[in-house]
Amino acid sequence: MMKKISALLLIAACAWGCSKDQGDKPGTAATTTTTGEGTPPEQPKAGATIAISCGAVGQELELCKAAAEEWATKTGNKVNVISTPNSATDRLALYQQILGAGASDIDVFQIDVIWPGILGNHFIDLKAHSKGVEASHFEAIIQNNTVAGKLVAMPWFTDGGLLYYRKDLLEKHGAQPPTTWTELTETAKKIQDAERAAGNDKMWGFVWQGKAYEGLTCNAIEWVTSFGGGTIVDAAGKVTINNPQAVAALQTAAGWIGTITPDGVLNYAEEEARGVFQSGNAVFMRNWPYAWAMAQADENLKDKVGVVALPKGGADGRHAAALGGWQLAVSKYSKHPEIAADLVMHLTSKEVQKQRAIQGSYNPTIAELYKDQDVLTATPFFGQLYDTFVNAVPRPSTATGSKYNQVSNEFWNAVYATLSGKTPADKSLQELQQKLDDMSRGGTSW
Ligand code: GLC
Repeated sequence: MMKKISALLLIAACAWGCSKDQGDKPGTAATTTTTGEGTPPEQPKAGATIAISCGAVGQELELCKAAAEEWATKTGNKVNVISTPNSATDRLALYQQILGAGASDIDVFQIDVIWPGILGNHFIDLKAHSKGVEASHFEAIIQNNTVAGKLVAMPWFTDGGLLYYRKDLLEKHGAQPPTTWTELTETAKKIQDAERAAGNDKMWGFVWQGKAYEGLTCNAIEWVTSFGGGTIVDAAGKVTINNPQAVAALQTAAGWIGTITPDGVLNYAEEEARGVFQSGNAVFMRNWPYAWAMAQADENLKDKVGVVALPKGGADGRHAAALGGWQLAVSKYSKHPEIAADLVMHLTSKEVQKQRAIQGSYNPTIAELYKDQDVLTATPFFGQLYDTFVNAVPRPSTATGSKYNQVSNEFWNAVYATLSGKTPADKSLQELQQKLDDMSRGGTSW
């Protein structure tokens, strides 16, 4: 079983977004040997090799490697950085296989903000290693990462959905950044049509994440919440998704496809949307903060991009950013849990978070860094949109606990069916309500 997991890791790391670096050296991933389950962990000492799974969206992998190497040099240990699938959905499936088998191949896991309830049992309590430093991180994230009294992960960066726009194009066409979805739709269409008439037939109005995966749940919860349609399941566990505002939200989004949004969006995750926007072929893009540093580093787009809160659903609606973000957790199957925890404390420290904020526009989880002048100069919207970040809308992972992934899966499938023209929004949400009620005995037993 253990051998199988190691092989799986190697294949998975490369099939789902291996860096060139790793592709050239396949032996670098998961080279640690495994011991039987139940082997007592070693006491901390230098000279260990710690394997860490890092994301590879934007500059994630590069920044993770740099900071992990810095720690390795300082402590006399080695690190083995393993890139994992870009899609949160694929990454969860991989983690579940590795952790479910009790494999020690990965010591440190980069986990999504929605996973503590799903994976928390497999991680050690970091409180014994944190020396209370968690008090400087956002309280809500610490609470989110605390499962049955255990701090199962340290916050690394937080995320909120944002609207990116081409400042130069809006100025050229005399338009303002939109504050409602209706304004966005009109402005996108107007500029798209004018730019196409002027010769850029590849221009689109609005790109986002429409593939059937966790990212679609994030996009769609933003539409639904912005229309006042709730968060699928409320804090008490009641399924609320079948409501007229949610129907209107999905109808609005379905109306974009083929008009201001390419049909291909049904296959876009974050990086595909960014690819279209960064090659200059979209007026607006919904994405996470990391896309800012990427655009600023691109000669064609530098200083041409603006960032605002996502539009409201209408006069009674609100601006809604989905709450995202990633944490670092130590596997309880690790052979070096203390050393791995030391790496986690280094990577989540103020110094490393500051560096990542400046270089990669990854949002810190330490409030103080939002007042840091170097951070604000590199990424001004961290200050301007601070309220958007702290009021970001959580997905219902706390209310639905270990069933969250099933709930999200049903939700993105229902949304996808509407976006692709297969099922009208009202029918899709009616069926979804029924499925989620069945799954939870009417919202009483998650
Ligand atoms: C970002 C968010 C994460 C979310 C994912 C969906 O990585 O930080 O929370 O689940 O996008 O694609």
